[in-house]
Amino acid sequence: MKKIKLYIASSLDGYIAHSDGALDWLSDFLKPSKNRHGYDELMDAIDTIIMGSKTYHEIIESNFDWPYKTKTTYVISHRNTNLNENDNVNFITENITENIEKLKRESKSDIWLVGGGQLITLLLNHDLIDEMQICYVPAILGEGVPLFPNKPKESKWEIVKTQIYDSGMMKVDYNKDKLS
Ligand SMILES: NC(=O)c1ccc[n+]([C@@H]2O[C@H](COP(=O)([O-])OP(=O)(O)OC[C@H]3O[C@@H](n4cnc5c(N)ncnc54)[C@H](OP(=O)(O)O)[C@@H]3O)[C@@H](O)[C@H]2O)c1
Repeated sequence: MKKIKLYIASSLDGYIAHSDGALDWLSDFLKPSKNRHGYDELMDAIDTIIMGSKTYHEIIESNFDWPYKTKTTYVISHRNTNLNENDNVNFITENITENIEKLKRESKSDIWLVGGGQLITLLLNHDLIDEMQICYVPAILGEGVPLFPNKPKESKWEIVKTQIYDSGMMKVDYNKDKLS
């Protein structure tokens, strides 16, 4: 069984975007540098990407080209609004958790859970996230799109690694506590 790994950037107060979806608070920390905050290692380890439809549409609106052509992407939504069928992008619109469990069973490599918060909580509530790599950005937004919205059920996590980058970001790697 392959793992689902959340890899995401969060503000100190637990937001992943401004309320309007803007990520400008993040871009200063993502300027090209020799260290890419573990992104390259993640991309080497995964062959499949899953994301919520709001995240998908934010990427579509901000990118000229689909950035994940070499991976297979699944977008979770109630309806199919796929604009990238030729870029290995697929939609899952029913039996969401069953289909994600099937991906875990059938993927050849691990799976990157991109976000956003709604999808994270859905998967937390079904014990479908195995690892979390959270890049904490030293900024407080005050309000925005929460990393963990809608009161996910209680779960326990073990810190397995921390890394501080020159950019100012700190990445904390968590594994699901096997006893929780
Ligand atoms: N900081 C970062 O690293 C980072 C990473 C990822 C995302 N983000 C940001 O996070 C924001 C989006 O997060 P979000 O929490 O608002 O949304 P999201 O999780 O990306 O997507 C929510 C959508 O997923 C679908 N969905 C959720 N649960 C479902 C279910 N049970 N069945 C069917 N479909 C379901 C629905 O799509 P439909 O409405 O289409 O049915 C829902 O509107 C964006 O601004 C994005 O840029 C930031």
